[in-house]
Amino acid sequence: MSTILKEQEYENRFDWKLWRQILRYAKPFRKQLILLGVVMVAVAGVDATFPYLTKVAIDEFVVPGTTEGLVPFILLYGGLILLQGFNVWSLITLAGKIEMGLTYRIRRAGFQRLQELSLDYYDTKAVGWLLTRMTSDTMRLGEVISWGLVDIIWGFTMMTAVMVVMFSLNWQLALITFSVLPVLFAVSIFFQTRILAAFRVVRRINSRITGAFNEGISGAKTTKLLNREGKNLEEFGETTENMRRSSVRAAILSSLYMPVALTLGTAGTALAVWGGGSGVIGGTITYGVLVAFIAYTIQFFEPVRELARIFAELQSAHASAERVMSMIDTEPTVQDRLDVIAKYGDSFQPKPHTWPAIGGRITFENVWFSYNPEEPVLEDFNLEVQAGETIALVGETGSGKSTIINLACRFYEPTQGRILIDGVDYRERPQAWLHSNLGYVLQSPHLFSGSIRDNIRYGKLDADEEAIRAAAKLVNAHEFINRMPKGYDSPVGEGGNLLSTGQKQLISFARAVLADPRIFVLDEATSSIDTETEQLIQNAIQNVLEGRTSFIVAHRLSTIRKADRILVVRQGRVREEGSHDELMELKGYYYRLYTNQFIEEETARRVASL
Ligand SMILES: Nc1ncnc2c1ncn2[C@@H]1O[C@H](COP(=O)(O)OP(=O)(O)O)[C@@H](O)[C@H]1O
Ligand SMILES: [Mg+2]
Repeated sequence: MSTILKEQEYENRFDWKLWRQILRYAKPFRKQLILLGVVMVAVAGVDATFPYLTKVAIDEFVVPGTTEGLVPFILLYGGLILLQGFNVWSLITLAGKIEMGLTYRIRRAGFQRLQELSLDYYDTKAVGWLLTRMTSDTMRLGEVISWGLVDIIWGFTMMTAVMVVMFSLNWQLALITFSVLPVLFAVSIFFQTRILAAFRVVRRINSRITGAFNEGISGAKTTKLLNREGKNLEEFGETTENMRRSSVRAAILSSLYMPVALTLGTAGTALAVWGGGSGVIGGTITYGVLVAFIAYTIQFFEPVRELARIFAELQSAHASAERVMSMIDTEPTVQDRLDVIAKYGDSFQPKPHTWPAIGGRITFENVWFSYNPEEPVLEDFNLEVQAGETIALVGETGSGKSTIINLACRFYEPTQGRILIDGVDYRERPQAWLHSNLGYVLQSPHLFSGSIRDNIRYGKLDADEEAIRAAAKLVNAHEFINRMPKGYDSPVGEGGNLLSTGQKQLISFARAVLADPRIFVLDEATSSIDTETEQLIQNAIQNVLEGRTSFIVAHRLSTIRKADRILVVRQGRVREEGSHDELMELKGYYYRLYTNQFIEEETARRVASL
């Protein structure tokens, strides 16, 4: 939890380019947005009419004490109320539709990008960070663009309309009332900038807390095992304390601003009453005008406060927009070339009928690779793997085994040099072509919640029951599945947590086998498995790898003994190379590793049998 998410600092400047990008997603809703704008102008217009009608009622009917022409007046009044009801209904439906549609479109774009992004992106971004981007940030954008627009148009139209009416009713009185405006603006700017700053701090800390929650929850077991609960709680306490302080500051500022703004608004009204009152007494203004003025001043200052709130929301939405866009605009490091996409399609619109069949010969040609420029992992690396050959990689942690494999799978691409598949640079083909022919079993297999059958079928969605069972049998998973109460229908739980690691691994093997890939990768797939299951898997591996190009990394060397070729890797270079027997004869690193492990295992067995 010490690696609490660092939230990137973003500038506060308003960035029009960014909003233009966001508005791209609003394009399909252009008609609705325009309609919404029209409706809002109508709402504000009708709102601004009511005080005027009050004035008419007082001056035409109340003061003279007549009812002549009252019926059409009442009809007009009632009609306006109905119209306003219809307006409000339209605005809620329209804004709601736009909000949902926009959120959906931005989320879709984000999701698509997350699918396209290369593995290295996930090395640097925490799950919690990505989740927040996809959920609350996209939601905030949809909200602010639809409802923010509603409030802004309503606010400005209302203020303009009210001003126009007030000045045309009595410009001197209007001037007196609006004399408080400059003060109100100054006060608003003073408070709003400070409130916003405090809220920004709160938001930053909040996002850090979400990150901490995420790590705290997903790392709960580790925390307990390492006895870190106390320390974690302490760190968490400090973070939340900072948040509390900033929140309180923001709350105090807001609570000061509100009464001050209200007082100023009321002062405006008071001025109107004072000026208007003496006018009425002096006979220059009618009662109706006075009442209308009081109503209008109240109406005028309402949007002022609203707009202040909306600009605050826009600010926070701005941060959301930046984060969402930074995600959506991230270019995947591994990308298909445009001409390749045109010819073969991409992952979303593949054209599999145009894809050449994969033989499985893989060639590294003077490959250089580094995750960061200062530390090259591979330097001028060369390797030729024949189609159908089983290659085992042996070496200490960090020697570059996974890097070699991930390059072959094109999860990363060489920074220099080429990797050829069947003699052709793999960048001449779409990623989907290679990946659809690739079976990759991870060290910690991921199962999706659902039944065992669903999880195996994930390897080939149109597989029938027979094929699923055949795959399970091939990897020796059939037996344990049958022993489960519901057999293939047994649920695996979230992330497969109802099964043991070994069982999960067997299922992910079956899944990989079902897809019938040309290239198979087992990167430490057997490391976290008990010996019994490993025995099962070892027998299975032999069946599975038959006829496929494959890479195996395994700690237990007995697993890789039968590989066609074993490569001993150290610091990104192949130091020894050959079959098990050849390497044993060589009496080098592999020989020492193997004999040591053999002795250890023998000793363990003897001790166990004592
Ligand atoms: N995602 C990554 N970002 C930066 N460096 C990495 C990354 N993955 C591996 N490395 C570094 O590359 C080197 C080779 O790692 P790796 O290929 O994973 O070794 P192995 O699989 O043999 O344990 C190591 O020094 C490791 O620290
Ligand atoms: Mg590795």
